[in-house]
Amino acid sequence: WVLMKTAQTPTNIAVIKYWGKRDETLILPVNDSISVTLDPAHLCTTTTVAVSPAFQQDRMWLNGKEMSLSGGRYQNCLREIRKRAREVEDKERGIKIEKKDWEKLHLHIASYNNFPTAAGLASSAAGFACLVFALAKLMNVSEDESQLSAIARQGSGSACRSLFGGFVKWIMGKEDDGSDSLAVQLVDEKHWEDLFIIIAVVSSRQKETSSTSGMRESVETSSLLQHRAKEVVPKRTIQMEEAIQYRDFASFAKLACADSNQFHAVCLDTLPPIFYMNDTSHRQVLVYICWIISYVEKWNRSEGTPQVAYTFDAGPNAVLIARDRKAAAQLIQRLLFYFPPKSDTDLDSYLLGDKTI
Ligand code: DP6
Repeated sequence: WVLMKTAQTPTNIAVIKYWGKRDETLILPVNDSISVTLDPAHLCTTTTVAVSPAFQQDRMWLNGKEMSLSGGRYQNCLREIRKRAREVEDKERGIKIEKKDWEKLHLHIASYNNFPTAAGLASSAAGFACLVFALAKLMNVSEDESQLSAIARQGSGSACRSLFGGFVKWIMGKEDDGSDSLAVQLVDEKHWEDLFIIIAVVSSRQKETSSTSGMRESVETSSLLQHRAKEVVPKRTIQMEEAIQYRDFASFAKLACADSNQFHAVCLDTLPPIFYMNDTSHRQVLVYICWIISYVEKWNRSEGTPQVAYTFDAGPNAVLIARDRKAAAQLIQRLLFYFPPKSDTDLDSYLLGDKTI
């Protein structure tokens, strides 16, 4: 027999960034962070986990290609979930797995991303969150999403925020064992339905410096990172929570843009400097990014009240958050200057995410 479960998890985009660890093994951050989880219909990971007495070893496939599970991060997640596994019974098929059996049984895991892996679109976030959630379902684990987030965190920090929809806060925690470093939902996906998130994928190439090594170098060499973690983020997190609570787009946009810019300033303050927003060998990408930032800044100033916020993660792709459908439509027309939508239906397909930029 084979017993299977499938889960689907969207990626999340940080509006207050996580950058820097105080513990590399447990993945404990130096500051709180806040993110928005995308609609599951779009950028998401789908993971199927299966168990069978016929399986000889744990194996995993990512986008159809077998990959090694020997890395510490996978092993940590598998161990933590196995510890919490409970009895599972499928009466119809006459299958019963007792708690103690989980130690001996092997797993097969198949995972698919519907977006480019490792291009700064938080694929590890959706990936580990989905893996942990699917395994928890298969093994009948009773822990809630916040407790599961503390396990997903050990796969990739940002993954802990993908266990919830809406706006999510990863509380950095104080304990050395990481037990209080977990995600909580601030508001659900219905709270701020006007927002439109547009992702301009300017490059789907793998990033040159992974987040993991980039943030390690920043922790070791950037004094701006220390200042950011101790002085800036604690205040900014409170302000961001308030902006989200009251759906105050002007404050939200100001804080999100400032935080993205400070994160990239920390990268520049790292020795040797990390350039995520551009790749100097790709001039067009650099020009495009500068254009996006200055276009948004100018547009927001000319309207008197912000229409759009931008944020960039560890890659050159722009994430643009528009205050409403009208602003999103205007932004799409502008982004697609050379290939404008042909009709309202065409524009709608961009707004619904059926067409990509
Ligand atoms: C820039 O979660 O990918 O996207 O914990 O080492 O796996 P690890 O790093 P990761 O870092 C994400 C960094 C970021 C900001 C954010 O998502 O908060």
